[in-house]
Amino acid sequence: MTGSQRGSMDKIRIVGGNRLNGTIPISGAKNAALPLMIASLLTDEVLTLENLPRLNDVVTLSRILGNHGVDFSIDGRRAGETGMTGQTAHLRAREIVDTTAPYEFVRQMRASFWVIGPLLARMGEAKVSLPGGCAIGTRPVDFFIQGLKALGADIDIDGGYVHARALNGLKGGHVRFPHVSVGATHVVLMAASLAAGDTVIENAAREPEIGDLADCLGKMGAKISGAGTGTLHVTGVPRLSGARHRILPDRIETGTYAMAVAMAGGDVTLEGARPELLQAALDVLRGAGVEVAETNRGIRIARNGAGLKPVDVETAPFPGFPTDLQAQLMALMCRADGTSTITETIFENRFMHVQELARLGARIQLDGQQATIDGVERLTGAEVMATDLRASVSLVIAGLAAEGETVINRVYHLDRGFERLEEKLSRCGGDVTRLVG
Ligand code: UD1
Repeated sequence: MTGSQRGSMDKIRIVGGNRLNGTIPISGAKNAALPLMIASLLTDEVLTLENLPRLNDVVTLSRILGNHGVDFSIDGRRAGETGMTGQTAHLRAREIVDTTAPYEFVRQMRASFWVIGPLLARMGEAKVSLPGGCAIGTRPVDFFIQGLKALGADIDIDGGYVHARALNGLKGGHVRFPHVSVGATHVVLMAASLAAGDTVIENAAREPEIGDLADCLGKMGAKISGAGTGTLHVTGVPRLSGARHRILPDRIETGTYAMAVAMAGGDVTLEGARPELLQAALDVLRGAGVEVAETNRGIRIARNGAGLKPVDVETAPFPGFPTDLQAQLMALMCRADGTSTITETIFENRFMHVQELARLGARIQLDGQQATIDGVERLTGAEVMATDLRASVSLVIAGLAAEGETVINRVYHLDRGFERLEEKLSRCGGDVTRLVG
C-alpha cells in the first residue's frame, strides 16, 4: 500500500445477471484491525499486526495515530505475494507526543474516539473530541464515560471535548454496561489492562473482535480472562510490551460475499473464512435455501436453480445476527419468493439503503425499526447513492441481480471497509467495474 486512499469520486458500475463461481479470499477484519492498531498506544515497544486489510479506514487511523506519536510502517510485498494477501504493519508509540485527539480527526472515523482508553491509561490524561452525529444513529459515548469513571478517571465534557484525567493512574474497578457496546468494551478493556488492580466488566460485548483484542493484549502481557463471554476479568499490569499478532478474518466481509453469491447464484469458496464467527448469518442463509458448507479452505456458498425463501430476522449483539449484515440481507430478500421481515435493534436509523433499493424496484415498507420486504421477480438497474458503509454494499448485492446497469455513487463509503471489492467479485465472473472519478 502506498498510503494513498482510493478516489473519493469513484463509482462502481455493475451489470447484473452473471453468476459467481470460484474463490473469494477473505481479508483481515476491519473491526478488529482498528482497535488493535489503537492498542499500539499502550506500549513503547513495537506491535506487529499481520493480515491488516488494505482499507481507507486503516490509512485514516494510521494518520490519526501518527498525531499521537505512533510510527507506522508496512512491509513491502514479497515475491510471489498477490495483492490479495493481507499486509504486515509495525506500529510503535515510543513516546506519546500529544494526548489530544481533535475534532478534525475524530469526525473522520468514530472509532478514533477509542484512543481515549490507552492514552488515559498510559499518560494519565486524554482529551478527545466527541464524535458528533453519525448517519446511522446518535451513537453517544455515555458508556465509555461510565466505564472510565469506574476505573477512577475524572471526566469533564466541555467545548465538544471529553477531558479524562487520572493523574495518579487508573485503578481497577467494577463496570456494568447498561447495554452491550463493542466500542466501550474495547476501551475499558485496554484501559483496565494498565490500571492498578483488578477490573470486572459485566455485560461486555462478546463480538469475536473483542476476543481478538484480548488475545493480542495477552501477548503484550495483559492478564485477561473471560473473552467471548459477557464478563471480562482483568488484572492490571504496570507496563505492556510489544507483540506480534495476526488479525482474524472479517466476518462481515464473509457474510457480505455469502449474500452476494446467494443473490447472483453460483458456487464460491470464501477462502480463509471461519464459520464460527458468523453462525447466525449462515443459519439465516440456510433457512433461505442457500447451500452452506464448511470446508478446510473456508466456507462454500452455492445456489443453483433453487429460489430464495423469505426469512424473519432481528439483529442482535454477537452471537446474534449482526447489524452490519442487515442491509445486505435486506437486498437479498428483495428477490425472495414471498415476504420477509427484518428488525433492527442496535441502531435506530440504519435503513438508509431502503430508498436506494427502491430505486432498483424493491418493495420495502418501514414501520419503526421493522422493515417488511415483499420479494419481487425482477430488479432493474439504476443510478444509486451509497450512504454508509454497509448500506452501500447492499446496493452492490442488489445490482448483481438487477437487469441492466447499476451505477453506485459515493463509493468512498465502500472503500472504508471493503478491500478491492470490484476485483474480488469480477474474479468470480461478476460484471463489476470501478469508474475512476
Ligand atoms: C461497532 C462496530 C460497528 C457495529 C457495531 C455494533 C467497529 C469499528 N464498529 O460500533 O461496525 O455496527 O459495533 O455491532 O467495531 N451506545 C450508547 N452509548 C455508548 C456507546 C454505544 O448508547 O456510550 C449505543 C449505540 O448508539 C448503539 C449501541 O450502543 O445503539 C451499540 O453500539 P456499539 O456496540 O458501541 O457500536 P460501535 O462500537 O460504535
